[in-house]
Amino acid sequence: MNDVLKRVSEIGIIPVIAIEDASKAVPLAKALVAGGLPAAEVTFRTAAAEDAIRAIAKEVPDMLLGAGTVLTIDQADRAMAAGVSFIVAPGYDPKVTQHVIDKGCIMVPGTATPGEMQQAMNQGCEVLKFFPAEANGGVAMLKNIGAALKTASWMCTGGVNTKNLMDYLSYEQISAVGGTWMVKKDLIEGEKWDEITAISKDAVKTMLGFSLAHVGVNCGSAEEAEKVAKALCALFGLEYKAGNSSNFAGKAVECMKKPDARGTNGHIAIGTNSVDRAIYHLGRQGVEFIEESRVLDAKGKTKAIYIKGEIGGFAIHLMQK
Ligand code: 3PG
Repeated sequence: MNDVLKRVSEIGIIPVIAIEDASKAVPLAKALVAGGLPAAEVTFRTAAAEDAIRAIAKEVPDMLLGAGTVLTIDQADRAMAAGVSFIVAPGYDPKVTQHVIDKGCIMVPGTATPGEMQQAMNQGCEVLKFFPAEANGGVAMLKNIGAALKTASWMCTGGVNTKNLMDYLSYEQISAVGGTWMVKKDLIEGEKWDEITAISKDAVKTMLGFSLAHVGVNCGSAEEAEKVAKALCALFGLEYKAGNSSNFAGKAVECMKKPDARGTNGHIAIGTNSVDRAIYHLGRQGVEFIEESRVLDAKGKTKAIYIKGEIGGFAIHLMQK
């Protein structure tokens, strides 16, 4: 996948901004970055869009910037000149789409029917906007379409918010969601930057959905690992499950057979809705990962990976829920 679209998918949530006053663009972008969302689709629904894009591109270069509501070739040209990495539209216009592709930029056209989707895909669009998502049948509709258009990938906007974003992101053909819920007009006009940061953080937290998966105990030998796991099973009526490198007591405790298992005391496995998104978002906070510990699924998505270092004598790994 193209690098820009890969990053869209890793960030997972793209704020859709309509800004009336370009002087508010930079603090707004910084509030989103602080909330864990270094991305924005700045819509050409306001006259300030172009200046806002230019200001963010200059002052907040880490931000992945797109232009939204791009209806004409002229708007597409202005957006690209102002510094966007991708262009979004509410509908599918083959001429505007071709122009953006010819200029070497990413076009994410708005689509709502299999006919539009098929045409846009055949024109070379890797990700399609599904808009307005909720009004068009939401994820249930996309699952029906996706059964036929197996290589389609969607960014869903329109009626998406923190409450339903996981309905969308749980479906593997959806690469990202977008929306205005963290950048509402009154929040921008009132310069409620802290509130924008808090709503963004809450959305990222919901998307990643971290929770304890299991604790790994270093037992030092196969015999000890069996003894410890069986003792826990006997006490609490847990199911005993023998494995190659460890034995499980229920799902909560993994008893490691090898003396050199990762972590001085053992490991803590943290489940997440998306390991790849978690790697991206934790990586932004300076967390580093042990590349050789990465386990991929058949489709190339990361199923598990260890974080570098220990916390409280425990190695930490992420795992797909
Ligand atoms: C868009 O252009 O993507 C939508 O206006 C966003 O929809 P929302 O306001 O329902 O989030």
